[in-house]
Amino acid sequence: MSLAADFVTLQKYLTMHSAEAIKITKAPTSKIGSIDFDKLPFGKFFTDHMLVADYANGEWGTPEIIPYGPISFDPSLVALHYGQSIFEGIKAYRLSDGSAAIFRPFQNHSRFNKSAHRMEMPNVPAEIFIGGMKKLLELEDAWIPSKKDHSMYIRPFMFGSDELLGVAASTRYRFMILLSPVGPYYASPMKIYVEEKYVRAVPGGVGFAKTAGNYAASLHPATVARKKGYDQVLWTDAFEHKYVQECGTMNVFFVLDGKLITPGLESGTILEGVTRDSTIVLARDMGLTVEEREISIDELAEGYRIGKLTEAFGAGTAATIAKIRELVYKDLVMEFNIDNQPVSDALGSAFNSLKSGQTPDKWGWMVPVKS
Ligand code: COI
Repeated sequence: MSLAADFVTLQKYLTMHSAEAIKITKAPTSKIGSIDFDKLPFGKFFTDHMLVADYANGEWGTPEIIPYGPISFDPSLVALHYGQSIFEGIKAYRLSDGSAAIFRPFQNHSRFNKSAHRMEMPNVPAEIFIGGMKKLLELEDAWIPSKKDHSMYIRPFMFGSDELLGVAASTRYRFMILLSPVGPYYASPMKIYVEEKYVRAVPGGVGFAKTAGNYAASLHPATVARKKGYDQVLWTDAFEHKYVQECGTMNVFFVLDGKLITPGLESGTILEGVTRDSTIVLARDMGLTVEEREISIDELAEGYRIGKLTEAFGAGTAATIAKIRELVYKDLVMEFNIDNQPVSDALGSAFNSLKSGQTPDKWGWMVPVKS
């Protein structure tokens, strides 16, 4: 993702035909009055409407915005049996001038279509993915939170909708977008251990794709971790359990010898996080040296022993920057002073002021909902 990429994509999109064609059926009443915007657990409440588009006979039908509610399918739905399902996580923010903007949705759109390709699903065009999202957000503007650390979580997803049990790529698909007003994802810094039994991804597999099965496969290891008193695991490579990959559902960063380091994307085992990319850009802009490369747990352990590993954090859409307070590897307990984390604090503040519109958006990352 190049620095100017978002800007170029935005220009390209704005010259394309917009989402005028979307048909809107309004909900008869709004649920908004029943929501306590001071208590917004992640992904629990949904707005009054959702977007739906169906793909059949090799093309997408006209998207529709309809009242939020259950959908009905035959129990033989291909996505339920064989997991042909992908999703994205994006956030829209209320800016200090009262308007609203979406953070880097073109990057998520491009990643969504990479996931679609890997899972043998059709591309979703920008008119539906971006245009539909903007229309839906415009309609649900009153739901976009304005409180600090709060936002509108946007969940585009697509699943195979053929109704038959033969193992084959579906010929029909449904694409949908849900909106959920959310508060902070993690209440406090995380306690993590290095996973040496289970694996998240292998080269040639689907680790780089945001596909449902990756998250399903992480649930058991995460439950084991929680039972042991940890928040999540640090995933390592499948062959030696030596090279770090991701932290729970997030990309992972370390501050080692004053440099910011994160696993590189070459092996295809790591999700190309939009927050990951933004963290790298912001850190370089602050003058930090950033390295995307192979990182072994031994290197981290040695860095900790000599006092050079000073910070560790996860980066993802849901949490943005999530500090790690304790990282355990075998019998080594690496503790970080979470009150003295200058790099993650500076990055957290940079993200916050950009996302609230307080600092100039020099990369064109904030895409206005109304334009
Ligand atoms: C993210 O933070 O980007 C995630 O993917 C977490 C989400 C699955 C809730």
